[in-house]
Amino acid sequence: MVCVPCLLLLLLPLLRVSAATPEPCELDEEDFRCVCNFTDPKPDWSSAFQCVAAVEVEIRGGGRSLEQFLKSADADPKQYADTIKALRMRRLTLGAAQVPALLLVALLRALGYSRLKELTLEDLEVTGPMPPPPLEATGPALSTLSLRNVSWATGGAWLGELQQWLKPGLRVLNIAQAHSLAFACAQLPTFQALTSLDLSDNPGLGERGLIAALCPHKFPALQGLALRNAGMETLSSVCAALAAASVQPHRLDLSHNSLRATAPGATSCVWPSSLSSLSLSFAGLEQVPKGLPPKLSVLDLSCNRLSRAPRPDELPEVNNLTLDGNPFLDAGALNHQEDLKSSGVVPVCARSALTMGVSGALALLQGAGAFA
Ligand SMILES: *[C@@H]1O[C@H](CO)[C@@H](O)[C@H](O)[C@H]1NC(C)=O
Ligand SMILES: *[C@@H]1O[C@H](CO)[C@@H](O)[C@H](O)[C@H]1NC(C)=O
Ligand SMILES: *[C@@H]1O[C@H](CO)[C@@H](O)[C@H](O)[C@H]1NC(C)=O
Repeated sequence: MVCVPCLLLLLLPLLRVSAATPEPCELDEEDFRCVCNFTDPKPDWSSAFQCVAAVEVEIRGGGRSLEQFLKSADADPKQYADTIKALRMRRLTLGAAQVPALLLVALLRALGYSRLKELTLEDLEVTGPMPPPPLEATGPALSTLSLRNVSWATGGAWLGELQQWLKPGLRVLNIAQAHSLAFACAQLPTFQALTSLDLSDNPGLGERGLIAALCPHKFPALQGLALRNAGMETLSSVCAALAAASVQPHRLDLSHNSLRATAPGATSCVWPSSLSSLSLSFAGLEQVPKGLPPKLSVLDLSCNRLSRAPRPDELPEVNNLTLDGNPFLDAGALNHQEDLKSSGVVPVCARSALTMGVSGALALLQGAGAFA
C-alpha cells in the first residue's frame, strides 16, 4: 500500500519482482485512474509503477502490515524531489493495511514535493507513536483530507499530530467511522482555511461527542458542517454544542439522525446567526420541529413522517422548502413505497433509506464501545 509511486522510488532497492503473479494494479486507458489491490500473500509491489502516470491513484494493502518498508523511512525524500514533482497524481487513496506512524510520516514528507490535492485513508490501523513534529510543515498542501475507519495508537491526539505535517490550506476534512473524535484541543492547531467539516457516519458520536470533537475557535472559517448518521438526538442539544464551540456554519446537515422533539420547557438555545440552510431529511420527524434557526432560508424536511404541511408561522423566512416523501403529500405513501419496491421501482425515500440501513449495519459491526 505504501508503494505509491513516489515512495516506491524510494523503496526500489528493497523490491523483489516476481513475474509469475497476476498484476494487482490496473491503469485505465486514459492513464487517468490507477487502482492496485495487493491481496496476494506475496504481493508484487513493483506493479504499482504503472500508476506513475495516473492522476488518481488508489492502493489497498490487503490488510497486511507494512512494517517491512520501515527500513526505508529514514531516506531523505529530497533526493527524489524532481521525480516526485513530475508526478501527475492529484488524488491518492490508501487503504486496508497496518501502517507504522513513522512510515506514514515518511510518505507525507515525500508527498510534500508532489502536487497532491486530495488524500483519502481508509481501513487503516496506524501503529506506534508519531515522530516529534517538524519545525515547519513538510507534507503535501492538501485541499481535501478524508478518513474512514482509521485507528491511531495515539488516541485523541492524532488529528493535531497529523495536521502538523500538512502545509496549511486544508479546506475540506471528512472523518467517518472514527475510533476517536475526542480531540486533544490544547494541541490542535487552528484550521484557518477549513470551510467544510463532515463527521457523518459516526453513529456513536452523539451531542456529547460533538462537543469534544468541535474544539472551540479551531474552525474559524467553517461554512458547512455535516453530521449525517452521527447519533444526534435533539435540535436544542446540537445548537448547544455549536454554541459551546463557537462555530458559525452557514449550512448544517442533520439528516439520517433519529431526532426527538425538544422537551417543552427546555432552555432555548441561540443558533449561530450565520446558519441559513438546514437538512433534516430522514430524521423520523412527525412534526415540524420547534426551535428552528430563525434566519433559515433553506430547509429540507424530505422523507419524514409529517402528517400535515408546515404552517407559514413555523418557518418564517424559509423560501426553499423540500417536503417530498412525507405521508401528508401522499396518504398512501408508505404502502405505496412497498408496492413500488416489489415492482422494482425505487422511490426517492426508499433508495436512501437503504443506504442508511447499510451505514447502520456498519456502525453496529464497529462495536458500541468506540466512543466510550
Ligand atoms: C481487493 O481484493 C479483495 C480480495 O479479492 C476484495 O475482497 C476487495 O473487495 C478488493 N478491494 C477493492 C477495493 O477492489
Ligand atoms: C476497519 O479497518 C480494519 C483494519 O484497520 C478492518 O479490519 C475492519 O474490517 C474495518 N471495518 C470496517 C467496518 O470496514
Ligand atoms: C434549494 O436548496 C437546495 C439545497 O441547498 C438547492 O440544491 C436548490 O438549488 C435550491 N433551490 C432554489 C430554487 O434555490
